[in-house]
Amino acid sequence: MNKISEEETKRQLGFIEELKDVIAEKKRRLNRDLTYHVTTFGCQMNARDSEKLSGILESIGYVPTESEEADFILYNTCTVRENANMKVYGRLGGLKHQKKANPEMIVALCGCMMQEAHVVEKLRTSYPQVDIVFGTHNVFKLAELIKIHFDTDDRVIDVWEKTDEIVEDLPSTRKFKFKTGVNIMFGCNNFCSFCIVPYVRGRERSRDPRDIVREIEGLVADGVVEVMLLGQNVNSYGKNLEEPMSFAELLKEVEKIEGLKRIRFMTSHPKDLSDDLIEVMAHSKKICKHLHLPVQTGSSRLLKDMNRRYTKEDYLALVDKIKKAIPDISLSTDIMVGYPGETDEDNEETMDVVRKAGYDSAYTFIYSIRKGTKAAERPDQIPEDIVKERFDKVLALVQEISVERVKRFEGRVMEVLVEEKNAQLEGYLSGRLENNVIVHFPGDPSLIGELVNVRLTECKGFYYYGELKTDE
Ligand code: SAH
Ligand code: SF4
Ligand code: F3S
Repeated sequence: MNKISEEETKRQLGFIEELKDVIAEKKRRLNRDLTYHVTTFGCQMNARDSEKLSGILESIGYVPTESEEADFILYNTCTVRENANMKVYGRLGGLKHQKKANPEMIVALCGCMMQEAHVVEKLRTSYPQVDIVFGTHNVFKLAELIKIHFDTDDRVIDVWEKTDEIVEDLPSTRKFKFKTGVNIMFGCNNFCSFCIVPYVRGRERSRDPRDIVREIEGLVADGVVEVMLLGQNVNSYGKNLEEPMSFAELLKEVEKIEGLKRIRFMTSHPKDLSDDLIEVMAHSKKICKHLHLPVQTGSSRLLKDMNRRYTKEDYLALVDKIKKAIPDISLSTDIMVGYPGETDEDNEETMDVVRKAGYDSAYTFIYSIRKGTKAAERPDQIPEDIVKERFDKVLALVQEISVERVKRFEGRVMEVLVEEKNAQLEGYLSGRLENNVIVHFPGDPSLIGELVNVRLTECKGFYYYGELKTDE
């Protein structure tokens, strides 16, 4: 059972208070502000963790800066594919010189990479410029770790292998005032054969629905109109709660929150997507008609080896059922090319699913060996040049189909959540449709954060131009 640790929240708030004085004193001495910069790699979970980490840094007195020449540099890392790791090591090199020039500078690393022992060992021996290292289970401890670093003037490395604790109610800041992610669960129990996530994020833990609703109510009171409910497999939400509850039931509770306008969620594992969820989505006024349903491959043989627990036919039948119940739905997916043992025929199966499912968008990845996973042990890894060839074929098809799909709304009036001023076009705003597609249209910046009706006048491939529909 998960422990909700109110004690721990109090302890951490105590460290935040103590650090406020320390930072204020430093500011006086230096006669300037102290700045921080967080760089986030990876998925929405990490993005949300970064909001929490930024919240702690701002509470103790650091001010945000766009520049990487900050006094506190934090990399929130991802290790789902090898190239994510390489980026982090590359960046750390540059920080060595920066640190010499600024004695106040602190370099901290956290996130999924830190949960791997070989990474921490490498940092320990070869990257003395790193001051603080922590993992995915103790994000809430940042203030305490900074305090220890100041007190000891030494490196602090604190990575937990696992946890059954959920710490609530610490400060967080948001990238956007009007939308944010909300964790509904942590970890993953699925152990897909290629995937490192269960090893670095630990076992599945669901948050109490009352805590989730309370958090969203607070966010709405603070200006949020759109939330993205986050979990590695939201469709298995609630199974380990003392009073079990399904994801569909949770959605109904969230829907009731007054003032909340849009609900999104990520990610749905096809094997756990229930009829109840389809039903709730079909009748909801707030849930975006968009479903991210990662398929990985179209080959039933490979799906079995991946431990995905559905076949190509199961997946396509599910897509059909969803489209029948929610005709306007936009589907997106993740596709992996080059899984060990993959043949040209397997790749054809993947392309067949792409054609039949008709995705509005698809993230295509080249399979990357992750140490410690089952697939990494297979002897039949695919040579790079063959993977590249297959990848290019899949990508070309995905793009062709998605351009067609995205265009289907041209001419319609649809609701857009206005996000920002367009950086290139003077007088234009940019926002997102329910299905996440971006729309640029002329309008006044006072509309940022509002839901407005926009006529989609011209589809430009993956985005739209539009014009505001006024109610005359
Ligand atoms: N929980 C989500 C996926 C999280 S990881 C789900 O099950 O759908 C996001 C995506 O990264 C996966 O869907 C997969 O396509 C990709 N991915 C995961 N491990 C990978 C690996 N070893 N190599 C390449 N892509 C990978
Ligand atoms: Fe990884 Fe599979 Fe869990 Fe998704 S469901 S995070 S792909 S193990
Ligand atoms: Fe990456 Fe961790 Fe997310 S490995 S994809 S940041 S859960």
